[in-house]
Amino acid sequence: MHTEMMRTIVAAVPLPLIAIGRDERIAAANPAAIALFGAGIEGRHHLLSLRQPALQQAIAAALSSGASGIVRHVIPGPSQDITYRVTVAPAGDGHALLTFEDVTEAEQMGQMRRDFVANVSHELRTPLTALLGFIETLRGAARDDPAARDRFLTIMEREASRMNRLIGDLLQLSRVESEERIRPTERVDLQALVSGAVATLRPLWEGAGVSVDVTGESGPLPLPGDADQITQVLVNLIENAVKYGGAGGKVGIHIAREQLPRGPGLRFDVIDHGEGIDPIHIPRLTERFYRVDGHRSREKGGTGLGLAIVKHIVQRHRGRIRIESEQGKGSVFSVILPET
Ligand SMILES: Nc1ncnc2c1ncn2[C@@H]1O[C@H](COP(=O)(O)OP(=O)(O)OP(=O)(O)O)[C@@H](O)[C@H]1O
Ligand SMILES: [Mg+2]
Repeated sequence: MHTEMMRTIVAAVPLPLIAIGRDERIAAANPAAIALFGAGIEGRHHLLSLRQPALQQAIAAALSSGASGIVRHVIPGPSQDITYRVTVAPAGDGHALLTFEDVTEAEQMGQMRRDFVANVSHELRTPLTALLGFIETLRGAARDDPAARDRFLTIMEREASRMNRLIGDLLQLSRVESEERIRPTERVDLQALVSGAVATLRPLWEGAGVSVDVTGESGPLPLPGDADQITQVLVNLIENAVKYGGAGGKVGIHIAREQLPRGPGLRFDVIDHGEGIDPIHIPRLTERFYRVDGHRSREKGGTGLGLAIVKHIVQRHRGRIRIESEQGKGSVFSVILPET
């Protein structure tokens, strides 16, 4: 193919594309490739720009014997490495054509899926192992011991409910995720949802010796939302505040107006005065199964999915979450939802 014609074609392709000539120099690079490798790449020997051995072997094979190949090529980026799938194909006249496809996201998704499956299996296996152990004990040593039997059945019930809760949370998470693109349209009253959630959770916070106060804007405060889901957000956040910050004795919910980039919004803060959260954990709190203290959370019956569900519900509502915490002083979880 004529070099000029090749240049026209490669310039039109949105993927980074490089043509290497028989002389092993880069004969043409389209704008996307120049953005990736820098201007001045054209005319240079390919060894200088594409240093990874696997890629060089593939180029050599394409130039010498017209073989095509696919190689993984990692380019270190400022914040994260970018992984490309590079297709090396002979392009006639002794040229080789390289196409760079960014597969970073796909690889990350694959990794996340594998982690997720591993986490779920682990979380389910723990209570299941306990159940199997107790069944064995009930059949054997504790067979004729009514007191032990009662005690074990209580533990078994707790472990079985944990599994049940975990499955429930997983189903909820996948439901929210699957409808995340569809923003709710019905209008709900935030004030009423807050009062409702606080009332529903009364046994929990009273039982923990915690008081819950609602302050700030008073209703009605209409916004587009899914009533059940916003209630779920409130319940999860209040539950956490009582569970992890309850030592402070007081949980506050403050409602305020806050401007979002696209218009007016309503914010609610769930404030506790407990031990707070080390800043290193904050960015990861909304990840599935992420817990600051796994043992302690499990002890309290937590699945580590609460904040992940919160995040997806808030995303579905096109809102924001902000987490602020000071160790020893307490935490504030804020959710800002658009009013229009
Ligand atoms: N108000 C808070 N104060 C201190 N730590 C908190 C607070 N809220 C959440 N955390 C930490 O964040 C972790 C993740 O919270 P999340 O709600 O996602 O899971 P969980 O409460 O452990 O389980 P679940 O909500 O499913 O019952 C908790 O395990 C806890 O370590
Ligand atoms: Mg929770």
